[in-house]
Amino acid sequence: MLLQGKRVLVTGVLTPSSLPFAAARQAQQDGADVVLTSFGRALRLTERTAARLSPKPAILELDVTRDDDFAELAGELKRREWQLDGIVHGVAFAPAEALGGAFLGTPWEAAAMALRISAYSLKQLVVALEPLIPAAGGSVVTLDFDASQAWPGYDWMGVSKAALESVVRYLAQYLGPRRIRVNAVSAGPVYTTSAKGIPGFSTFPEIFAKQAPLGWDARDSDPVGKATVALLSDYFPATTGEIVHVDGGYHAVGAARGSAAGDPAE
Ligand SMILES: NC(=O)c1ccc[n+]([C@@H]2O[C@H](COP(=O)([O-])OP(=O)(O)OC[C@H]3O[C@@H](n4cnc5c(N)ncnc54)[C@H](O)[C@@H]3O)[C@@H](O)[C@H]2O)c1
Repeated sequence: MLLQGKRVLVTGVLTPSSLPFAAARQAQQDGADVVLTSFGRALRLTERTAARLSPKPAILELDVTRDDDFAELAGELKRREWQLDGIVHGVAFAPAEALGGAFLGTPWEAAAMALRISAYSLKQLVVALEPLIPAAGGSVVTLDFDASQAWPGYDWMGVSKAALESVVRYLAQYLGPRRIRVNAVSAGPVYTTSAKGIPGFSTFPEIFAKQAPLGWDARDSDPVGKATVALLSDYFPATTGEIVHVDGGYHAVGAARGSAAGDPAE
């Protein structure tokens, strides 16, 4: 059990399709004590989803747009005398006017909201919770979508993911001496509540399924859960500032599977 004896805080669990849910479930299966965060109206859904986990984890409040919430979350964990060995950052949001082809007309306020919730929040979360991570160190994993290229309609969320990848590297730089590793899992497209809110998203799964060397199933979040747990575990002791692609290998190839002469898939 990779996470036996470790406590992991997982943000961003909304429904059973949420990628952070896959991480939480896998972490429990690997022996971790899991605690979740949620906020506002999402809390009710998170409660219902958490009931599918065994044991049902505690859910603490965290709206990443409220600065006070970070200190209150840290305070609550401290009151419970809970140390954290791992943190999963699975929070993202962009307003409709920052997505779906609106890129050129997106006002700063909408772009700023996407960047704050989807990238800056990682820095805030880690800084707030750093005192709860033991001196021996810990592991932080965030959930990313490949920001090395532009995607149709992903717009300011794409820019936010580019920022997130950079935040990962800077946190890795500043927190390495504290033995805190910070990495990203760059996932292929998975049908989740957030994903369905991205106009044009529905074309991504088919493209990944066709082009990824290993193929890609956009209804299967297990590979993301497993990779996240691996990074949380002691099996990546010398890896930080890294982006691990969990996308069937899509990012690595430039042409469709089966397009080359003699392709074994033909
Ligand atoms: N679904 C995909 O195809 C895909 C691919 C790669 C990466 N990701 C990333 O995975 C992460 C989880 O997203 P998901 O696709 O599982 O969708 P999801 O909708 O299930 O999760 C998004 C979460 O962000 C939370 N959130 C939004 N605003 C917040 C705020 N102000 N404070 C706190 N939490 C807030 C929501 O409550 C929700 O739990 C995101 O970072 C997303 O970008 C998703």
